[in-house]
Amino acid sequence: MNCSHVPAIGAAWDQGKTETSYWAPIFRGFEFSKKWIADLKPDVVILVYNDHASAFSVELIPTLALGCAAEFKPADEGWGPRPVPVVKGHPELAAHIAQSVILDEFDLTIVNKMDVDHGLTVPLSLMFGQPKEWPCRILPLPVNVVQYPPPTGHRCYEFGKAIKKAVESYHEDLRIVIFGTGGMSHQLQGKRAGLINAKFDKAFLDNLVKNPRKVAKIPFLEYVREAGSEAIELVMWLISRGALENEVREVYRFYHVPCSNTALGHLILENKRKTKRKKR
Ligand SMILES: [Fe+2]
Repeated sequence: MNCSHVPAIGAAWDQGKTETSYWAPIFRGFEFSKKWIADLKPDVVILVYNDHASAFSVELIPTLALGCAAEFKPADEGWGPRPVPVVKGHPELAAHIAQSVILDEFDLTIVNKMDVDHGLTVPLSLMFGQPKEWPCRILPLPVNVVQYPPPTGHRCYEFGKAIKKAVESYHEDLRIVIFGTGGMSHQLQGKRAGLINAKFDKAFLDNLVKNPRKVAKIPFLEYVREAGSEAIELVMWLISRGALENEVREVYRFYHVPCSNTALGHLILENKRKTKRKKR
């Protein structure tokens, strides 16, 4: 599941504005998705997002990291923590994934304590609403897309494949959904603030489904030039795509402009064939 993680969506939820004329079309765009994930009943969500100077800062910027703790509290981003449940992790699965991808030569940072910000909690609200407890375990997977240089699209795609391999070799049969969040068109500052390039976004969505290797070759400057400086967050969608089979079925797509001053994109993909667990 891929979607934007615009912080204003979380504020709209928390302030009871989901039925207003501005927000209602956006939340309606996730009605199918909420039912889809409720029917699927995942045991674990691996949630690829970026931290926005909440858990990390300019003092410490891991490129690829994984939350391996038992729980993660909602971060205070300046207005107090969002009124959402504490995230329960899955330390055993996280340790397995960390071992598998590091031995596959991805130099992952292991995070045993951190708070999680809107990058992680907004997609959860969109998919699960506001329950007392999140209905599954969640593995936070923060990626640096804040300070240059972020990981390349190709690196993200290959990292997704390493995660797939790790998940398939886990001893327990779990139902796992991976979220890739962020994007789409957005530039938050300067003369081009509010830039939207729907043509770029839609081509990105089409190619992510059918030709992810082509998407993986998009250089940083193309994201920035075509879809704005914060559109670089889209490299995170390549991690979730890499974790799927090459052949996927597009289950659902939603695209809405504007959401805050961004283009909101949302895509659900499923493997065409059932993934088999491999022997450890
Ligand atoms: Fe973001």
